[in-house]
Amino acid sequence: MSEAKRLNAILERETPALAACLSPLGRRAAFPQGIPAQSGEAKGTEINATVGQITDGNGRPLPLEALAELVPGLDEKTAFLYSPQEGHADLRNAWARRQHQLALGSTAWATTPITLHGLTQGVSMVADLFADEDTTVVMPTPTWENYDLLFGMRAGAQFATYDFFDGDGFNVQGLADTLKGLAGKKTVIVLTFPGNPSGYAPTEAEVDAIVDVVSSHAGPAVALVDDAYQGLLYESGLLKRSMFWDLAEKADPERLAVIKVDGTTKELLFFPGRVGFIRFHGTSEMAAAITSKVKFVGRGSVGGPPGPSQALVLAALRNPKLEDQVAERVALLGRRYRALKDALADGAGRLDPYPFNSGCFALVGLPDDLDAHEVRKKLISDFSVGTIAIPEINALRVAYCSIAEETVPELVSRLVKAVG
Ligand SMILES: Cc1ncc(COP(=O)(O)O)c(C=O)c1O
Repeated sequence: MSEAKRLNAILERETPALAACLSPLGRRAAFPQGIPAQSGEAKGTEINATVGQITDGNGRPLPLEALAELVPGLDEKTAFLYSPQEGHADLRNAWARRQHQLALGSTAWATTPITLHGLTQGVSMVADLFADEDTTVVMPTPTWENYDLLFGMRAGAQFATYDFFDGDGFNVQGLADTLKGLAGKKTVIVLTFPGNPSGYAPTEAEVDAIVDVVSSHAGPAVALVDDAYQGLLYESGLLKRSMFWDLAEKADPERLAVIKVDGTTKELLFFPGRVGFIRFHGTSEMAAAITSKVKFVGRGSVGGPPGPSQALVLAALRNPKLEDQVAERVALLGRRYRALKDALADGAGRLDPYPFNSGCFALVGLPDDLDAHEVRKKLISDFSVGTIAIPEINALRVAYCSIAEETVPELVSRLVKAVG
């Protein structure tokens, strides 16, 4: 039996829905007995002549001083030697511990996070392993534009969409109706809360309803929980923790697989660090099998994750001041959020703001007689304001996360003037 067939058999036994959703590439994937695997086995040998990296002859790096003197506090081995394909074990465990705390006592089991090049590679990994031309990707409109590229352009999947909002809240019924038509078909259900571009996180009641709808779906389905904006919440009564945990607690593995993609990009404000993670709900028996498949796709595309970034994040996770610093930044964003809410309440003119309560963005709807791209261009040329057009709902996305609190009223005043 080939290694891939052996892994597929484990997944079929332990997590049937996950196995049923594998793409042809996902079914073929198995980390080979190549250079990384052989060098891993040789770890600790007296004379290790496996990896093509230049060392001092005793396993320590020989970084150029011009580089090393810039980062004197970083662990040299982590920063300047190749990372294991799955990421450094210390970092993976430290990230798992932090996520466990954020999970607020969830009893759901999850594989150890595998380190990837940012969240984009996490989503791309899900697309590679689980999406093909027979897959339907269920996501709201509007949503993060890159899902189109990752699932549509690269994997050739179909999309089934529903309106993100229903009145003042998340369109749970739209999600339920969309899923109804997909029973028996391979499905990837994308769940991104807080959302991009919506800047909306569901209330606790909405979370329960979403979890009920997704966990009672006939399947076979993969729920992709994209936690890019985890923790950026500015109102009470919103989702308390990643929906991954609630779904994992309720999922029947015959019908539903649950995947969490998260990372340091927004959660630790480390935008270009390219440190993301992927983990799977399942059993300890399937962990090695799915990890092998993820490592295969990583090795066969972008290679292992970056060392200096992993060293930085690991050091930060060990710093007792980290959580206070995160909280301080969330509080700063909360003030910008409040300033935007107040300014829009004071006078939005012909703007029609959508509900927003979290994350980085707010959507402002435009009057029907105006075109989102035209207004966006006018804002640049006549008002020196940059926004993103969301033509699907004729709205603008305002990234208030990057606007100073005191500038927010002026921003709103220019938006109002631009629409006339
Ligand atoms: C919802 C969502 N997922 C994933 C990403 C990608 O994150 P990264 O920069 O870590 O690749 C973004 C970035 O904007 C995002 O908005």
